[in-house]
Amino acid sequence: MPEFIPLISEKEIKARVQKTGEKISKDYENLDLVLIGVLKRSFIFLADLTRKISIDHEIDLIGASSYDGTMSTGQIVFTKQPDLELEGRDVLLVEDIVDTGNTLLKIVEFVQLLNPRSIKICSLINKQERREVEIDINYSCFSLDKGFIVGYGLDYNEKYRNLPAIYDLKL
Ligand code: IMP
Ligand code: MG
Repeated sequence: MPEFIPLISEKEIKARVQKTGEKISKDYENLDLVLIGVLKRSFIFLADLTRKISIDHEIDLIGASSYDGTMSTGQIVFTKQPDLELEGRDVLLVEDIVDTGNTLLKIVEFVQLLNPRSIKICSLINKQERREVEIDINYSCFSLDKGFIVGYGLDYNEKYRNLPAIYDLKL
């Protein structure tokens, strides 16, 4: 049976998401913000974050899939393109967790082709130990050294996204 070790509580998540939303609202005050969530994994974070951003902004989604269990396949498949016109706009990519950084780098390269004015990154979790590429995470709610975590949108083989808090998964 898998074991779930509590790591970040609902209350802690709520407080950090609130702070992050406030910061984004200040930083983007005179800009043309488009939040782009990466499906499926950021849907819960995105839904909470957008409601903590007090300035006008738009929301879109990108479908990108790269993970099989706990091992990165190194391949990324785009399953959904953004619908909104992004040219000249200020894109903030919303991710669940940046681990090696390979997925995010490919997503950034892809969005760059749509000519936004700026691209920045907001990740719920910044997991630094296995980083393979140099990438600037402009907003991150939590940092983590190692481990495989689930809950609050994060999955293991598509399960456990529904858990309201974040847990270290021991298989
Ligand atoms: P990366 O390409 O190695 O940075 O990881 C890409 C994706 O792998 C993340 O956006 C997550 O969806 C998934 N991932 C990485 N680490 C974890 C984890 O600890 N728990 C759940 N998913 C993870
Ligand atoms: Mg995943």
